[in-house]
Order: sequence, then C-alpha cells, then structure tokens
Amino acid sequence: MNELIEKAKEFHTLTKDELVSLLANDGINDVLFQAADSVRREFVGDEVHLRALIEFSNYCRCNCLYCGIRAENNLVERYRLEKAEILELAQHAAASGYKTIVLQSGEDFSFKADYLAEIVAGIKKLDVAVTLSIGERSYEEYKILKESGADRFLLRIETTDKGLYEKMHPKASLENRKRCLYDLKELGFETGTGCLVGLPGQTVESLADDILFFKELDADMIGIGPLIPHPHTPLRDSECGNLMLSLKVMAFTRLLLPDINIPATTAMETLNPEGRIMALQAGANVVMPNVTAEGVRGKYEIYPNKAAVNYAELSKKLSQIGRTISHKKGFRGRSCRKDIR
Ligand code: 5AD
Repeated sequence: MNELIEKAKEFHTLTKDELVSLLANDGINDVLFQAADSVRREFVGDEVHLRALIEFSNYCRCNCLYCGIRAENNLVERYRLEKAEILELAQHAAASGYKTIVLQSGEDFSFKADYLAEIVAGIKKLDVAVTLSIGERSYEEYKILKESGADRFLLRIETTDKGLYEKMHPKASLENRKRCLYDLKELGFETGTGCLVGLPGQTVESLADDILFFKELDADMIGIGPLIPHPHTPLRDSECGNLMLSLKVMAFTRLLLPDINIPATTAMETLNPEGRIMALQAGANVVMPNVTAEGVRGKYEIYPNKAAVNYAELSKKLSQIGRTISHKKGFRGRSCRKDIR
C-alpha cells in the first residue's frame, strides 16, 4: 500500500482499483497525508492563498436535497445584495489585502449575465482576481462573464455517480453539470470543482471516480467537504460526512493533480475546530474567509454552524506550521514537468 502512495507521489497516477483499496484502508492515512503535504510543498510552496468570499444572494431555483438554501426551504429569509453593496464589500476586502474576490450565490437568475458582468468589471478595477460561484448557466452567459474579466469559476460536480447525482438534485442532470464544466474550461476560466463526502448511498468506488474525474477535467481547483446535514432539508436525519475520509479524498487529489489550488474547506473546520489546519497539512493551500456583512451572513446557511475565519488566529496558526499568507493572486502554477500537465 505504501508503495502505491510512493508511486502516486512520483508519477501522479493511480488506477480506480488502487484508489478504492487505498480509500478503504485507514492504516495508510499518516503516510498519505505526509505524501500530500510534501507534494503540496514541492509544487505550490508554503504560501497560503486567501480568497474573500461574498455571498451576494441566497435565492436559489434548485432543490438539492442536502442544501439549506434549496428553493423549497421556506424557513430561510431570502436576501439579494445590490451592485453597490457588493462593490463596497469587494473594495473593503481588497483594501484589507485580499487578492481574490469570490462572488457566490444560489442559482438566482434575477442576476442576469449582463448585470453580473458590470459587477465583475467594477471589481476588476481593484486589481484582484475574480471568481464566480453562481451555478449552471448557458455557454453564452459564461462567455459574457469571461469577457467581463472574471478569472475563475467554481462549480462542484458534487458526485459523479449518475444515479446518486440525480437523486440528490431533482430536475438536474449530471450531463449538464459536466457540460458547464467543459464550457468553463474551454472559455479559459480557471475552473474549480469538487465533491461532497458522505452523501447517503455514496461508495468509495464513486469517490474514486470523482477523483479520476477531477484529473480527466484537469480541474484547476478542487474543493472537498464532508456533508453536514441541515435540519430544514430532506437529509436532516443523515449522518455527517467523515472528516478523515474527506481529508483522504483531498490528499489523493493533491497527489494526482500536484499543481492545483486546493482549499481547506469551511465544512472541514465546522466538523472539527482543527479541521482547517489538518487540511492545510494534508494537501490544501487555500483558505476562503467569508467577508459578507455580518447582518446577512447568517442567512446564507447552506449547512448549520458554518465556521468563521479569524484572520489574526489564522495567521498565527499558519506561522506555527511554517506557512505564510500569500500577497499574490494565486493562479494555478503552470508546471514545466510534462508528466503532470
Ligand atoms: N453540507 C456540506 N456542504 C454543503 N454544500 C451544500 N450543502 C451542504 C451541506 N449540507 C456545498 C456544496 C456546494 C457548496 C457551495 O456547498 O458542495 O457546492
């Protein structure tokens, strides 16, 4: 088993069968996390990139079974920020030193592509990278957004298991999800995806497929998080996703895609106060602090008790583990090694 991890560390490939047996074996975890940490150091260094997250609308047309802001949850107080409010939050974040602004929302079609494009163009004047996380749109809309200056786009595949995907996402299709991701890649976005760990009925086989899909897409960023059941969703009685398994999926992703950006996700920290630091020592190199105004932040409840980032505490913890906060935009490093391109 340890030889397989050595192989992955050196050649950045594993077969599905190898991934399945490694994911099912907890005896390898320490060796795996050390290998992912050393690949992270070799390919993306010790700097941690911070991305300022602005949650600008919690309206959503989707009904994902796990998500607290699903359309049918009428216990959520819905809000939309105006362009001026979004720009003000972005200005404040840029003035505080953030080099990337992430605009995230539910799938809210009242934000038309042209209007979003104006917001992106306004933020781009601040000399920051802009990431969008607004869900599924048409190629034409993505094109308008790219042309407005947006640099990156996040759209998790959530799961590559077609049956499970369709059960979790009423009226949505895995094909359209993939279509969106390939459109985003083609348009030149740095494209982020990822999965949930702990969906009911999910298997290690399907997690192995998820990791291989990230590689097939050549994703530029991967966010992985455990499921945290929300009380006002159909998954209210499900168990929480397993933090260790989430860290393992993340660590294998680092071994197979050595030069990408990988966040230590908020869901990991929500399950364990040390979750973020554990992730940063098992392959992650990004943290995404929420900079949405206090007044509306509580309403963007994808899952309960979302952890917050305290900047002073984070920078202290980072220095304790030999890491520093980056002051660069933190694009994916283009490796000169052809075996991992
Ligand atoms: N628990 C954990 N993560 C969740 N997400 C949505 N709902 C939950 C939940 N209950 C994740 C999805 C989505 C991202 C923005 O949040 O993976 O892509």
